[in-house]
Amino acid sequence: MPMYHQLGDVPAKRHIAFRSPGGELYTEEVFGQEGFDGAESILYHIHSPCRIAEALPHEPLELVEWLPDEHAHRHFALKDFPEGGDPVQGRQPMLFNDDVVMWYARPDRAMDCYYRNGEGDELIFIHEGSGILRTMFGPLAYGPGDYLVIPRGTIYQLVPDSDAPQRHLVIETPGHIRVPKDYINGMGQLLEHAPFYHRDIRRPGELETIDERGDFLLRVKVRRGFQPYRLDYHPFDVVGWDGYCYPWAFNIDDFEPKAGRLHQPPPSHLNFRGPNFVVCSFMPRMLDWDERAIPIPYHHSNLDSDEVLYYVNGDFSSRRGIDYASVTLHPTGLPHGPQPGLAEKSIGMKSTSEAAVMVDTFRPLRIARPAERWDDGEYRYSWMHEARPGAEPATAAR
Ligand SMILES: [Fe+2]
Repeated sequence: MPMYHQLGDVPAKRHIAFRSPGGELYTEEVFGQEGFDGAESILYHIHSPCRIAEALPHEPLELVEWLPDEHAHRHFALKDFPEGGDPVQGRQPMLFNDDVVMWYARPDRAMDCYYRNGEGDELIFIHEGSGILRTMFGPLAYGPGDYLVIPRGTIYQLVPDSDAPQRHLVIETPGHIRVPKDYINGMGQLLEHAPFYHRDIRRPGELETIDERGDFLLRVKVRRGFQPYRLDYHPFDVVGWDGYCYPWAFNIDDFEPKAGRLHQPPPSHLNFRGPNFVVCSFMPRMLDWDERAIPIPYHHSNLDSDEVLYYVNGDFSSRRGIDYASVTLHPTGLPHGPQPGLAEKSIGMKSTSEAAVMVDTFRPLRIARPAERWDDGEYRYSWMHEARPGAEPATAAR
């Protein structure tokens, strides 16, 4: 998030000698995006961040595609996705293309190593769970509904609370996760019409500087796999940093939804932007107030995009088969919309309690092999049936 921040000690000027109380020179690291043209921070380390005791063999991680026989709308029912693994290595890929990879995880243990994604930014949506995101920029406490934005290159360790079951949707991109430019003025300030403000952004509040020698494992995501290194010092050895590039958190409940006299399209729910994709947050809100309005979405064709919807909270019972933690994929080439009868039923609805996260990609998605297990196979036929009697229309069904 483009807001200047400083933690710990930094010298009066950039690129001058800065020493420890014992007289040792700290190592200055410029941590910047887009070749010195993008957001950057400057960190001061006790040790050289290049220092490694041993480079262990690279561990390839192949994204294997599941290519079903039929091109159709799909529903992946992830409610019963099993717990397992740590918050990084327990991730399973669901959908991917060259711009974005969507992973799903229900970690049941803490990480016993430190991790840096060397080839992508990460946006972690915490559907369930709480804990601490420890980073070299300082720790961030997290809880349900948080989006954690972690710039590539950040060394971190996710430490879930032991008594809090976790459910994470991870969006990884080789580009950068951004707040939409339309929300920001020329001074970097969020505009009045933006659905959130700087007060909603949580940044590391204190630095966790660890000056410790020992044996520490750092796993770096690079070359489409993990490169493990052994370090002889703790990787959180930063004594101070300042700048614009650091991890931050935003809770989906702080997204102020927009409502209108008639139906508001998905871009009014825009939360983040990446290369060739967007992330929208659909939150509980008042619905269209014109007495002629049809509050639920019209049928539409995604002529240029694949649409992924992750159901977070609310009553989705009217949408056949859809449940808590469901993922729907409405791929390009096909129109989609509410099931038969729901438009009529929705007339006069005053509000919706549903929450959902949407990822719209502008290039086709591929389905990862692990997702096959969760594909219900029936969703494509759900437009053959009338909605169940008495069901409330699912307004998140974009
Ligand atoms: Fe849609």
